[in-house]
Amino acid sequence: MEFLNKKFCVKRIKEIYEILSLISFNREDYYFSSWNEGVINEDWFHSYFLILNLGLQVRPINVLEIGTRNGLSLVMLLSGYCHFKGVKVVCVDTWEEFSCPSRVIDNLRFMSIPEEIVDFKIGKSRDILPDMSMNGYNDLFDYILVDGSHEANEAYGDLLYAHKFLRSRGYLLFDDIERLELYDIWRKFRVMYKKNYTWFENSYGKGICWAKKLEAK
Ligand SMILES: C[S@@+](CC[C@H](N)C(=O)[O-])C[C@H]1O[C@@H](n2cnc3c(N)ncnc32)[C@H](O)[C@@H]1O
Repeated sequence: MEFLNKKFCVKRIKEIYEILSLISFNREDYYFSSWNEGVINEDWFHSYFLILNLGLQVRPINVLEIGTRNGLSLVMLLSGYCHFKGVKVVCVDTWEEFSCPSRVIDNLRFMSIPEEIVDFKIGKSRDILPDMSMNGYNDLFDYILVDGSHEANEAYGDLLYAHKFLRSRGYLLFDDIERLELYDIWRKFRVMYKKNYTWFENSYGKGICWAKKLEAK
């Protein structure tokens, strides 16, 4: 995938921020306030830059997010779509510390993204993912964002399940590799599945790694 012009993407990401800032609960969120107060700069957007590009250019049909929070990463992806025919999204999150599915729905509605395409699975990924694996989700998804627990063992478990769930030619994204413990587990995962993917990483801002799954031989 060739990236689209960076200026265009940053402009679009800022527009999404501006639109969602019209909702008061977003304005109270530090993801938004940090930007509005200048605490973060454009570098912070690099993960959204990738996600937006995937939405605009690849338009994945079966989407899994482990760690959705209030849906900003999901909106970044889906706002790139020109239609939602056949699109199915599964969001896994505890929603214990911050936000809840109804806020994700509000953000989707505000961006004219149909909420019916989203299935919310509430709970810890270590409880939900094994259940999904036994119920028809293996080899299904063509986009998976792993951005849930930032505790290394849990995140590693999420990556292992994501590998099972991802179909050939699908994209696996792993956010926040500025945290060394997360970068270490990505490297461990990469060693284990070296031949199964083409590997990429971007260390700007929060840092994001991604990999495209190769066809099984
Ligand atoms: C960094 S935020 C996700 C941000 C989101 N992807 C975005 O960019 O807008 C991490 C999310 O993971 C969730 N989370 C933390 N531990 C989890 C676990 N063990 N299982 C599932 N979700 C978890 C948190 O509730 C939080 O919403």
